[in-house]
Amino acid sequence: MPLDRTPVPDELRGLRLALLVSGGIAAYKLVDLASALAQAGCQVRVAMTQSAARFVGPPSFQGVTGNAVLTGLWLSAGSPEPHVELGDWAQLIFLAPATANIIGRVASGRSDDIVTATLLAARCPVVIAPAMNDAMWSKPAVQENVATLRHRGVTVVEPETGHLASGHVGTGRLADASKLLKAMADAVRSRYDLAGRRVIVTAGGTREPIDTVRFISNYSSGKMGFALASAAADRGARVTLVTTANHPEHHGVELRHVATADEMLAELRAEIRAADLLMMAAAVADFRPAKTATSKIRRESTPKLTLELESIPDLVATLGREKDAEGVFRVGFAAEDSDLAAEGLEKMNRKGLQAIVANDISRKDTGFGSDDNAGVVMFTDGSSHELEKMTKREMADRILDLVVPRLKKT
Ligand code: C5P
Repeated sequence: MPLDRTPVPDELRGLRLALLVSGGIAAYKLVDLASALAQAGCQVRVAMTQSAARFVGPPSFQGVTGNAVLTGLWLSAGSPEPHVELGDWAQLIFLAPATANIIGRVASGRSDDIVTATLLAARCPVVIAPAMNDAMWSKPAVQENVATLRHRGVTVVEPETGHLASGHVGTGRLADASKLLKAMADAVRSRYDLAGRRVIVTAGGTREPIDTVRFISNYSSGKMGFALASAAADRGARVTLVTTANHPEHHGVELRHVATADEMLAELRAEIRAADLLMMAAAVADFRPAKTATSKIRRESTPKLTLELESIPDLVATLGREKDAEGVFRVGFAAEDSDLAAEGLEKMNRKGLQAIVANDISRKDTGFGSDDNAGVVMFTDGSSHELEKMTKREMADRILDLVVPRLKKT
C-alpha cells in the first residue's frame, strides 16, 4: 500500500519520533513515511548520515516534517551535543533503510556520526528496518550483527523478498509501510501505556489577591503535580500542566501558568473536552478575599484591616458536573492530618471523583515542600492501596500504575 494511504496507528499520534536515515536507495521512501507520520500528528525530527544525504536531500525531510534536519555531529547551530539532545527528546527511534554498514557500526558501538551517536545516546525503544542487496543481507556477518542488536532489545523489521535495485530478486527490500508502522506501534505500546492519551495535571497553591501586591495562598510547592506530569509524559501522554508553581520543564509537558482558582478553572475548561485523565494535585484555595483592592493597601491610611473572605467553588466538583468532563477520569488529592481513608473516601464521593490520593500532612518527612510523599490511593470500586514513603516521582509512577488500567479503552 502506498505510504501516504497507510493508516498511522493511534499509538504514534503526538509521539516524539526521531527518524534516522542511512544511505540506501530506499531512503527516498522515508520522505513519504515522515510525511504520513507528521500529518498524523507525530512530531518527527530527522537525522541522516552523509551517504543518506546523497540519496535524498535534507530539505525534503525538512519540508515534510517542519523541523531542521541533522546531518552531522558538528553542524547543528542549536546544540553542542545534537545526538544527546535528540536521544533525550525522542520517545521512539526508527532507523531505515538500515544498511549493512550502519548495522555493523551500531552493533560495534560506534558513535562517529549523528545516526550512530544518537542511537548510543537513546533512552527510548529503537526499531530498525534493514534494506540492502540480498547477498549482503544473507551474509553471516550481517546476520550476526542483526542478532546482536535484537539481543540488545532493538526491534528489527525483516526486509521483504522481491525485486531489488540491483536487478536481482531476493530478500532485502525495505518492509512494507504497514509493517514498519505496526512495528513502531508495537514498540511504543509496550513502553508507553499513556500513548495517544491527553492528561491534565494541576500543581501548586492558588494565589488569591488581597490587593496588587498581597495574596492568600498555602504551602503547596507544586512538586507532586510536576512529578505526576513528568511521569505521565514519560509514559507517552500529551500533558497539560496548569500550575501556579515553577519547576524545571519536561519534554511532553505543556505549561499553563495561572495564579487564581478562577484562572485555573478557565484553563481546565479549555482543555477538559479532549482529556482522558485529570489529576488535581493543586491545592486550590477554599477562600478568597471578597474584594480585591485595585491598588496597594497602605498601612499609614489603614490602621486596622479586616478581610472578608468568600468561599471558592470546588473546581473539580464543578467540572465533574459539566458535560465536557463526562468520561474524563478524575483523580483528586486530599491533604489530611487524621483519618486519611475515611476523609479521602468522603471527598471522593462528594466531589464525584473516580479516585483520590489521600496523604498525611501531619508527618514531618513527607507532604508539603518535601521531595517525598506517602498516602493511600482509593477508587470508587472500593479498592484501596497504601503507598509507603517514597519520592514524589516514584509515587507519581505508582499512582499511574493503578490509574492507567482503569482508564476507558479508546
Ligand atoms: O476539600 P479539599 O481541598 O481537601 O480537596 C482537595 C481536592 O479538591 C484536590 O484535588 C483539589 O485540587 C480539589 N479542590 C478543588 N477546588 C477547590 C478546593 C479543592 O478542585 N476549591
